[in-house]
Amino acid sequence: MATRVAINGFGTIGKRVADAVAAQADMEIVGVTKTGPSFGCELAVRRGFPLYCTSDDAGRVAAFSEGGYECAGGLSELLAAADVVVDCSPGKMGAENLTKYRKAGVKAVFQGGEPHALTGLSYSSSANHDANLGADATRVVSCNTTGLSRTLVPLWEACRSLAVECTMIRRAADPGDSGKGPINAIKPVLKVPSHHGPDLMTVRPEISINSLAVAVPTTIMHVHAIVATLPSGHGLTTDAAVELFRAQPRVIVMHGGDSRITTTAEVMEMARDIGRRWGDLHEIFVWEDGVKLVGDTLYYFQAIHQESDVVPENVDAIRALTGSEADWRASVAQTDAAIAAAHGSA
Ligand SMILES: NC(=O)c1ccc[n+]([C@@H]2O[C@H](COP(=O)([O-])OP(=O)(O)OC[C@H]3O[C@@H](n4cnc5c(N)ncnc54)[C@H](OP(=O)(O)O)[C@@H]3O)[C@@H](O)[C@H]2O)c1
Repeated sequence: MATRVAINGFGTIGKRVADAVAAQADMEIVGVTKTGPSFGCELAVRRGFPLYCTSDDAGRVAAFSEGGYECAGGLSELLAAADVVVDCSPGKMGAENLTKYRKAGVKAVFQGGEPHALTGLSYSSSANHDANLGADATRVVSCNTTGLSRTLVPLWEACRSLAVECTMIRRAADPGDSGKGPINAIKPVLKVPSHHGPDLMTVRPEISINSLAVAVPTTIMHVHAIVATLPSGHGLTTDAAVELFRAQPRVIVMHGGDSRITTTAEVMEMARDIGRRWGDLHEIFVWEDGVKLVGDTLYYFQAIHQESDVVPENVDAIRALTGSEADWRASVAQTDAAIAAAHGSA
């Protein structure tokens, strides 16, 4: 029987996770929530996702029909029809929502805007799928931490010791966040070290990592500048490190100079060519000519599409909680093949 999945919060991440879940043969969307009638409801209607209200308040449920949308009920009614809820509400609402999910007896996947302490368990497909098997609730780590996990976990597995310093060059806002602009400044994040690097240790504590962050006036991607100290006798070369990254699922390695993909603008143009919905890029992009091993120090750059790299991880996290697929590589392959088939990706 297909896993019945509810999406609580149908915004930037929620609509993408709903789309990816709906593509899976072993899952079905039983409903998505909005706070009230707004333009995002239109997408739910077009995709045939039953629309629910984030609240059980009768007045707020009724507001949907007044706005021209059919609302199937409040959150409690949606939870009653679900096996797993993916919480895609704005960050810091998790504690209140987790109480509701527990009361309904529904397993829950949260997003990186929530603290690790909420569930005491975090998730990244390549890092700790097995530790999440059968759990009641987890948190998919943030877009930045997911990106770090994709390349640093295989590097740690190849070397068995890793000390990392990285700088997160962050987009100032998502493309739809017009309320945050216009922006013309570079803003160092004055919480030092930033939370991004250490967050990786919630899914792979063996990696020693610290980070700085700076927000820049772009909306399309984050870039990470990574400096990793490998143990002596690691046996890697620059070429071997490139091949290690190339062999990983959800990592794209390309030569920037030859392919003329030298900026995030060109990476996102390539993503639009691939043909995923919203022009998304689920993969982490590593510039081959930006990888360099000097002695025991590996330097590289990678780019993260903040709105979408966590999307397939949510699908894998659902399989981990239900225990329906114990092998993370098998889940990743199943997830990605189903999304590619649904999107007709090139
Ligand atoms: N955006 C990114 O790049 C990104 C990347 C990785 C992780 N995340 C994380 O993903 C989570 C969601 O972020 P987002 O960017 O998708 O936010 P978003 O675009 O603002 O969407 C949030 C959605 O939650 C709904 N909502 C509001 N109050 C709610 C409640 N009490 N219960 C349930 N849903 C509620 C909103 O409804 P209305 O539409 O009706 O207002 C909206 O649809 C956050 O934890 C964030 O940190 C975001």
